[in-house]
Amino acid sequence: LKSKYLSLIADAADEAAIEDLRVQAVGKKGEISLQMRSLGKMSPEERQVAGPALNALKDEINSALAAKKAALADAALDERLRSEWLDVTLPARDRRVGSIHPISQVTEEVSAIFADMGFAVAEGPQIESDWYNFDALNIPGHHPARAEMDTFYTHRAAGDNRPPHVLRTHTSPVQIRSMEANGAPIRIICPGRVYRADYDQTHTPMFNQVEGLAIDKDISMANLKWVLEEFFSAYFGARVKTRFRASHFPFTEPSAEVDIQCSWVDGQLKVGEGDGWLEVLGSGMVHPKVLQAAKIDPDKWQGFAFGVGIDRIAMLKYGIPDLRAFFDSDLRWLRHYGFSA
Ligand code: PHE
Repeated sequence: LKSKYLSLIADAADEAAIEDLRVQAVGKKGEISLQMRSLGKMSPEERQVAGPALNALKDEINSALAAKKAALADAALDERLRSEWLDVTLPARDRRVGSIHPISQVTEEVSAIFADMGFAVAEGPQIESDWYNFDALNIPGHHPARAEMDTFYTHRAAGDNRPPHVLRTHTSPVQIRSMEANGAPIRIICPGRVYRADYDQTHTPMFNQVEGLAIDKDISMANLKWVLEEFFSAYFGARVKTRFRASHFPFTEPSAEVDIQCSWVDGQLKVGEGDGWLEVLGSGMVHPKVLQAAKIDPDKWQGFAFGVGIDRIAMLKYGIPDLRAFFDSDLRWLRHYGFSA
């Protein structure tokens, strides 16, 4: 009986098997318990021998059960420790963090500089009506500026003779929208995307501008020049040289374009070097017809407007050689030219 149970216990695979064996051997109706009950029918001499022997057997089986139970629990714990093992000294897995696109960075910088000069940020739609993009800005249907702007037109259904909407070719329609919405006086900038069918190293079909508009009682061209020079020296640092060149826009009179002194050095545009110039903005005094189109009385109010090419001033400040790369979504490029948050 003893060797039978000791070997069964040694082979028990889990706690349930141990419990079964306990019931079988020393449980109330277990083999050993039944034999103990038979002690009563024995003669005193027999009982004196069999009693202690059965008790010893019972103790031995009980302690074998307990020992095996403890061993199984130990093994289970070992197994758990092994499977849940974690090496906290391993270096952390590298998480790729995105970066801020140069256009977003420059838009922030520009907005902050103009905020210091009291300009609020305005917005307008990128799909614009013919009226806001052209007519209200004194560019009537036959005007050559429409053709020059390489406009993207949307499609109207057959038989719908209204002029098609356009992808805005500049941020200037926001001049009209903010004058209509707020009346005069006004001081806003509007950074945003604009579209023209054009593609080379300094032109992409989608690009970014920041429009500026200041309307008040006695704003002059001198204010325009001061604001722009203040802006460029804040943005590039004091060394930058600007050149104001007389120009023409249907929506400003007089008009000026501004160039920044720069040159290609080892394939990079360097600001303040050499004898090259890059055009970065158009500007002028808001044309009275434009004020009228936006329901502002040109006899009471006047002001200036400008439109800066954000991508161009980003190329200049951060030495980015090809404008097209801004919109290629090349991760290596984005990591190289991007800014950390
Ligand atoms: N809208 C013009 C352009 O896209 C720039 C401009 C803005 C000129 C405001 C004058 C006044 O080139």
